[in-house]
Amino acid sequence: MQVPFFRFDGITDEVVESLNEIISSGRLTRGKYTHLFEEEFKNFLGVELVKTVNSGTTALYVSLRALNVEGRYVIVPALSFMATIDAVILAGGKPLVLDVDETYTLDINQLEDALKRYDVAAILPVHLFGNMADMPSLTELAQKYGAYVLEDAAQAHGAHYEGIKAGAWGDIAAFSFYATKNVAMGEGGAVAVKNIYLVKRVKQLLDFGEEPAFNFRLSEFQSAVGLHSLRRIEENTRRRRAIAKKYSENFKGLFGFQRERGYHVYHVYSLRHSQRDLIIRELQDRGISTKVYYSYLLHELRGAEHFPTPFAEKLKNELFALPMYPSLTDKEVNYVIQNLLEVVEKL
Ligand SMILES: Cc1ncc(COP(=O)(O)O)c(C=O)c1O
Repeated sequence: MQVPFFRFDGITDEVVESLNEIISSGRLTRGKYTHLFEEEFKNFLGVELVKTVNSGTTALYVSLRALNVEGRYVIVPALSFMATIDAVILAGGKPLVLDVDETYTLDINQLEDALKRYDVAAILPVHLFGNMADMPSLTELAQKYGAYVLEDAAQAHGAHYEGIKAGAWGDIAAFSFYATKNVAMGEGGAVAVKNIYLVKRVKQLLDFGEEPAFNFRLSEFQSAVGLHSLRRIEENTRRRRAIAKKYSENFKGLFGFQRERGYHVYHVYSLRHSQRDLIIRELQDRGISTKVYYSYLLHELRGAEHFPTPFAEKLKNELFALPMYPSLTDKEVNYVIQNLLEVVEKL
């Protein structure tokens, strides 16, 4: 049996119908579907404004521009996709990299020290793999030291903690709708604004007229694919969580796990093992594709200032991810479990 790492299952009959409707209408951009998507995503999150853009990286960049981070520090975790730190650099900010804890999100223990010692414009927590960062502590510290909070929620559509969704905790948040994301449209992103004082600034940055601006818009096609994906998010997340539960029950005691905080949406299901590279090769021979998240730390990648990051270092060497998507069948899940158990037994 072959179990791919990812399979896109979002092109339903409804999507095809909507795409045909767009073609016949002749309105290919800035139309009904983009507005519907923005409105429904805004209500889903419970924020003041959602503006779609062409990627998650763009959403981070626009958010950082709105926060005026130029020449000032932005705190990021050591373990994330490179766009998290690249957006800071592109917006003229100075990244300051901290370690992550057992939840694989920003280590709160280092945060207060960093806020005391540096001129920090914003904290940029990442809800890694769909797991919530410690937002109550983080927002409290941000308030105490006068820093903004920008959530990188690219992997956390629908995750929540204490009844508040990822993207609705901070001042502003960035989402990605890249093909593999929990809400997907191929390429795409959104800026979600919670802080009412930032609404006007974000609109200014994205609309032509007031100042020189890039065109970061989505087409109607992407919005339509995303809208139908958004409408399936709850059902799809339930399936992801059921698969994660089954994996975790079977692998208990054999691997290191990400400690959950709140409602984890399992964009990525990861395990930790000191013999990761061997395990990955063995699984590949048995037709099971896995992936390493991430093979780099952000400060190493971009030569940024950083605190000691011993736990992120360990994760860089030990983490790998198993297939995780709503259309993964029970048969495929069982095949992954059975083979991985056989592989670890032989180590
Ligand atoms: C944590 C994180 N931040 C930012 C991004 C950037 O999103 P995009 O690929 O849509 O530019 C991604 C996804 O790729 C991501 O996983």
